[in-house]
Amino acid sequence: MPKKTLANLSSSDISGKRVLVRVDFNVPLDQKGNITDDTRIRAALPTIQDLTAKGGRVILASHFGRPKGDDFAARVADKFRLTPVAARLSELLGQPVVKPDDCIGADVEAKVAAMADGDVLLLENVRFHPEEEKNAPEFARQLAAIADLYVNDAFGTAHRAHASTEGVTRYLQPSVAGFLIEKELQYLQNAIENPQRPLAAIIGGSKVSSKITVIETLLDKVDKLLIGGGMIFTFYKARGLSVGKSLVEDDYLSLAQKLEVKAKEKGVDLILPTDVVVADNFDKDADAKTVDIRNIPDGWMGLDIGPDSVKTFQAALSTCKSVIWNGPMGVFEFDKFAVGTEAIAHTLADLTKTGTITIIGGGDSVAAVEKVGVADQMSHISTGGGASLELLEGKVLPGIAALNDA
Ligand code: 3PG
Repeated sequence: MPKKTLANLSSSDISGKRVLVRVDFNVPLDQKGNITDDTRIRAALPTIQDLTAKGGRVILASHFGRPKGDDFAARVADKFRLTPVAARLSELLGQPVVKPDDCIGADVEAKVAAMADGDVLLLENVRFHPEEEKNAPEFARQLAAIADLYVNDAFGTAHRAHASTEGVTRYLQPSVAGFLIEKELQYLQNAIENPQRPLAAIIGGSKVSSKITVIETLLDKVDKLLIGGGMIFTFYKARGLSVGKSLVEDDYLSLAQKLEVKAKEKGVDLILPTDVVVADNFDKDADAKTVDIRNIPDGWMGLDIGPDSVKTFQAALSTCKSVIWNGPMGVFEFDKFAVGTEAIAHTLADLTKTGTITIIGGGDSVAAVEKVGVADQMSHISTGGGASLELLEGKVLPGIAALNDA
């Protein structure tokens, strides 16, 4: 770990100290405002509990959603308040969690001053202040002023250079990584820098354009690259195949060709599906049939990978010692077109049992393994969608770069 972590601090560094802990409690809510997935809250518990056990006064900061507007008054709204998160956290910790109505100001200062060792306080949504996303120094200084040291455990927000992730480190020392960031880096960075081979990456999703950088970077690292999801049709069209009304990014045809050439040059086995499930329109109840990729009918669109492709992917993965997965194989929100994605989720769960390291990087693929009920069977499920993608792209994450070096 290139950065200092919580494990490098002793009890005396923490006991009686006010610790500002950036977490990513940006969790999904249903229509009624109930939390539908508390994974990110549970993932921060080891850090919070370590600090409270050592007598730290834990001041948590998080964003929640994307409130818009020029100032606090325009941005503040009940649906963006962290109230349900504070309640859930309190249940999980088995202790009260104080939540002020703002993240800076006199009331916050008074509530922090009233904290005892081992207490937990959750600041209100830092994005109620536009200065958060602007990484405004004065706002960062105000956040830092209520604490003695800083722990960043918000892996999901580590790709944002915001006041509470990057700016505060200029005003608080030490600034260290929490256990979640440490674990995420250990899995995701090891997987690409120091993998057990053969290493395969499965990349899905609808657009080549959003995955170009990760595909290019991974071609330098992996032994096999399996591509699924809507982006396969851009590759097929680039190969001269008919793709019906499937989604294609015509501006990326030559790039798709270049990626195939690069894979050959690098000796990477680039594997595309051999059959697809096509639909007569984009609808959960659309008429559907499975066709070879050379026979996609006019007027039909591909919405999932087919059973032969699943077998091809399973055979390719069966010899791998590490697998990274980012992006669904089809439109898995529609049950009819979720079969390919679900089969890959089960395949990875089975591979984990036989010793393969399986890493699910972000967003939709995490939702897919959760839907299938195999999330707890993977080696690592990342809590960061955009952050894990940027890490796999080889980018520097500003929230981590700003922490003290080990
Ligand atoms: C996420 O949910 O991906 C993170 O919390 C980051 O949120 P953002 O994309 O609104 O910055």
